[in-house]
Amino acid sequence: MNLNNCVLQIPNMNGRTIMEEVLRSLLTENIVSGEKLSQMLGVSRTAVWKQVTALRERGFNIEAVGRQGYRLVSSPDLMLSPLIENGLNTEWAGKHIICFESIDSTNRVLRQKAQQGAEHGTVVLADEQTGGRGRRGRGWLTPKGSAIAMSLLLRPEMHPSRVPILSLGTSVAVAKGISAVTGLPVQIKWPNDIVCSGKKLCGILLEMDANEQHVESVVAGAGINVHQKEFPDEISATATSLDLLTGKTVSRTEIIKAVLRAAEETEQMIRNGTLMETYCSMSATIGRAVSVQAVGETFTGHAESIHPDGVLVVRTESGELREVMAGDVSVRGLMGYV
Ligand code: BTN
Repeated sequence: MNLNNCVLQIPNMNGRTIMEEVLRSLLTENIVSGEKLSQMLGVSRTAVWKQVTALRERGFNIEAVGRQGYRLVSSPDLMLSPLIENGLNTEWAGKHIICFESIDSTNRVLRQKAQQGAEHGTVVLADEQTGGRGRRGRGWLTPKGSAIAMSLLLRPEMHPSRVPILSLGTSVAVAKGISAVTGLPVQIKWPNDIVCSGKKLCGILLEMDANEQHVESVVAGAGINVHQKEFPDEISATATSLDLLTGKTVSRTEIIKAVLRAAEETEQMIRNGTLMETYCSMSATIGRAVSVQAVGETFTGHAESIHPDGVLVVRTESGELREVMAGDVSVRGLMGYV
C-alpha cells in the first residue's frame, strides 16, 4: 500500500485533506513552490505533485512556473471548501464548511452534525443530493454538477415561536445573494420560494430542533438551480435556473459566497427590526390574487400582508380576512397559475 496516497485522503487537524491544503495555498499565493508545500504539509514532494496532478484532472489550470513552483490560473465550478472560503470575509457564516461530492441530503447531515455540537454558521454543501428533502414531505432534485444544495446551521437565541422570522430571513439572504451576483430581479413567493420571470429558481427548507422554551438549532437549507438547461416533465413548466435566466454560466461558488454574506446582513436586519420591510419589498405574493390549498380546503383571495411570525393574510372574495400559517399558495401569473 502506498502510504502517501492514504495520508492524502485523511483530513488533517483542521479537518482538511492534503488536496484541499494544496488548493488553499495556490489560491492565496501567486506562486508556491513544491518544496514549501511539502514542508508545510509534512508530505513528500512527489505527494505534492500527485495532488497538483489530481487538481488538474478535476479541471484546475495550474501552471508550472520555471523552477519557482506552481501558479493557479483558473478554477472549475466545483464544490470545494477552499474555493468558497477564498475571499469570503464573513464573521460567522461559513466559518466551517463541509463539502460532499454526493450525499443524500445536506439538511440531514447538518442536523446530525448539529446534534454532535457543530457551531453556529457551519455550512454543508453537496454537488449532488440523492435524497434531497423538499417542503411538505416532498423531494428535491439536485443533479450532479448543476445546482447548489447548501445548508447553514443557526443557533439563534430566540423563543421557538419566533423561528418563522428565520425562514423569511433565509429567503431574503438567498434572494439578495443571487441578485448581488447576477443582477436578476428575483422575488420571494410566500413563504420562501425564490422566483424570477414567473418560475421557481430556488426552494428553501428550514428544520428545527427545539423544546418548548429553547431552540437548539435550525438548519436552513436552500436548493438553487444554477446550470440546468432542462427539467423533468413534472416541473419543466414551473422551474428555471440561473444559467437559463442570464444566458451565461453562473459561478456556484460566487453565489454561495454572496448568500453567506447576505445571511450576515439578514441577521442584522432581524436584530434591528428592518427584515420585514425588506422581505415585503421583495415579495411576489403581497398585492396579488392567490389560491390557497390549506388542510381540507382551497380558497382564493387577495394577499394583503405577511406578518413577522410568517403568517400570510388573505382577504377572501367574500371580504373575510383569513390567516394562512401553512399550505401551498399559488400566485396568479406565477409558476403556471392562471
Ligand atoms: C422546497 O420544497 O421548495 C424546498 C426545497 C429545499 C431543498 C434544499 S437543497 C439543500 C437542503 N437539503 C435538503 O435535503 N433540502 C434542502
